[in-house]
Amino acid sequence: MSVTLIIGGQWGDEGKAKIIDFLAAGADFVVRFQGGANAGHTVVVGEERFAFHLVPSGILYPEMTCILGGGMVIDPAALSREIDMVKKRGIDVRNRIFISEQAHVVLPYHIMMDLGLEALKGTGRIGTTGKGISPAYVDKVAREGMRMGEFLRPPGDFSRYILDKVKEKNRRLKLLGFKTVSPSRTEKEMSILRKKLKPLIADTRIMLWDAIDQGRKILCEGAQGTLLDIDHGTYPFVTSSSATASGAALGAGIPPNAIERTVGIMKAYCTRVGNGPFPTELSGTVGQKLRDIGNEYGTTTGRPRRCGWFDAVAARTAVRLNGFTEIALTKMDVLDSFEKINVCMSYRIGRRRLDHFPADAKTLARCRPSYETVEGWITPLDQRRKAGLPRLATDYVKFLEKVIGCRVSMVSVGPERRAIFQR
Ligand code: GDP
Ligand code: IMO
Ligand code: MG
Repeated sequence: MSVTLIIGGQWGDEGKAKIIDFLAAGADFVVRFQGGANAGHTVVVGEERFAFHLVPSGILYPEMTCILGGGMVIDPAALSREIDMVKKRGIDVRNRIFISEQAHVVLPYHIMMDLGLEALKGTGRIGTTGKGISPAYVDKVAREGMRMGEFLRPPGDFSRYILDKVKEKNRRLKLLGFKTVSPSRTEKEMSILRKKLKPLIADTRIMLWDAIDQGRKILCEGAQGTLLDIDHGTYPFVTSSSATASGAALGAGIPPNAIERTVGIMKAYCTRVGNGPFPTELSGTVGQKLRDIGNEYGTTTGRPRRCGWFDAVAARTAVRLNGFTEIALTKMDVLDSFEKINVCMSYRIGRRRLDHFPADAKTLARCRPSYETVEGWITPLDQRRKAGLPRLATDYVKFLEKVIGCRVSMVSVGPERRAIFQR
């Protein structure tokens, strides 16, 4: 039993891929288990920067097998482009990428639907990534979706299947007054993609069960984060999949008792892209400073990320919900020049004090943060790799460990693979 989960502990973009890349050195498999091309996972190795959306971040290690699990929603065109990008950059992907036949397909009409529904919502919109995620999961749950396994149909049969599917979905797009998609163009495009992706499609569950039996090391790469989870996040301002630890077993198709380590990834502050409540958000110059130093712009959409102080209320909830065995605290270096650092210890609604993250967004929107202020370390952490963390930085880490109730095992101090302290 050697499965490790890497789970976002906040609103996504915590630096999951950086930690995957760090832990992947000794691993055999990296598995994405939910989400789709809404994810933007950045790995920096030396001068090279890679942004992954669908391909698991372990692909940079030549011996690694990468699996796109059954809980994902996969845009085949985006996947094909990403595989080409990886190849072009000199990485041999042969026999190293496998796609679960159970994963759902994101087709062009899902993207139309996503964009159309967001436009209809007006000011109440979620601020999705526009990658067709929610409509694809809607089709899955409505039992009207297309799974990657359909790519295994013979060519003629496959073409008819796609034409029928698109025509049926066009009726819905029309009913809503949205632009429709061309059935013949979709069929042509998908037929080309079918040829390319067919050899990669497998029952990836069996591969993973065998790997577990052989004691091989498996990393499960979470996308998004706990506070964007469809059930436990700030609903309805969430994504449409289970981004918490509980989603990993389901989405990868592995037994929950094979999981022995669950690493929560959290930034030393907080960010959020898209709409929805964010109690510690800083809209003024301090927020802008975090954005500038942390380069907080979306990997997938380029949107500026909303920035705020570390929220220990949300973090405590994430620890308990996911059963984190440890935390990797990232982007500590972004706080290097802050004389004072705030940490949200509890919320207030009027005179009422809340120590837990409320289950609904409306209550959360009324919460005001109660801060404790700690002293900054005013030292460039990235240059302290030999000397170790300065005392005040260690104090900040220890303080967070105490208030969130979980050990911090790694502190990341830069985007690069080696910019990390293990504790
Ligand atoms: P993910 O979606 O959780 O994998 O995170 P993203 O890749 O979307 O965003 C994290 C960003 O922070 C990327 O640009 C990373 O290269 C960068 N990053 C990761 N860890 C650190 C760190 O410790 N310090 C700094 N300054 N940047 C980091
Ligand atoms: P990674 O894996 C940050 C956000 C969107 C929007 C909401 C719903 O890089 O951490 P969707 O397109 O999923 O229907 O959008 O979720 N969102 C993310 N925010 N990081 C992500 O992924 C995200 N994926 C989706 O901004 O608010
Ligand atoms: Mg990201």
